[in-house]
Amino acid sequence: MKILVINGPNLNLLGQREPGIYGEQTLESINSDLSARAAELKVALSFFQSNSEGEIVDMIQSASGVFNAIIINPAAYTHTSVAIRDAISAVAIPTVEVHLSNVYNREEFRHKSLIAPVVLGQIAGFGPQGYELALKGLMGYLMKS
Ligand code: DQA
Repeated sequence: MKILVINGPNLNLLGQREPGIYGEQTLESINSDLSARAAELKVALSFFQSNSEGEIVDMIQSASGVFNAIIINPAAYTHTSVAIRDAISAVAIPTVEVHLSNVYNREEFRHKSLIAPVVLGQIAGFGPQGYELALKGLMGYLMKS
């Protein structure tokens, strides 16, 4: 089982970026915790972070036939990117959308996700644990299908 974990813009700054909202853990440390969980579940993870919409689209396209599932935190592109939404829809790989914060109790512009209608499910508000919940949910889904 191979799962691709994609993080979008500004998530490379986790740890120093608005810690009151996003916590103090760095992306590297979140990824390392997730890798440990994946190893227990015998899943191979690949990690990708980019601040660029086009690079994220390219990565989703290249996942076709390589990865069984995708976990994505599209960050600000969640609310703006038709291109990322269309890429997820095009590859038809089971995908879970993760947000560290509960986007629904924040500014109104964060309440709309262009990505949500094309993913298996969305997890928001659980901090870094959201990635592990996504992994667990995807494993359950993939085992049944
Ligand atoms: C985020 C929420 C987005 O609204 C925001 O633009 C981010 C991070 C989250 O993980 O809570 O960059 O995706």
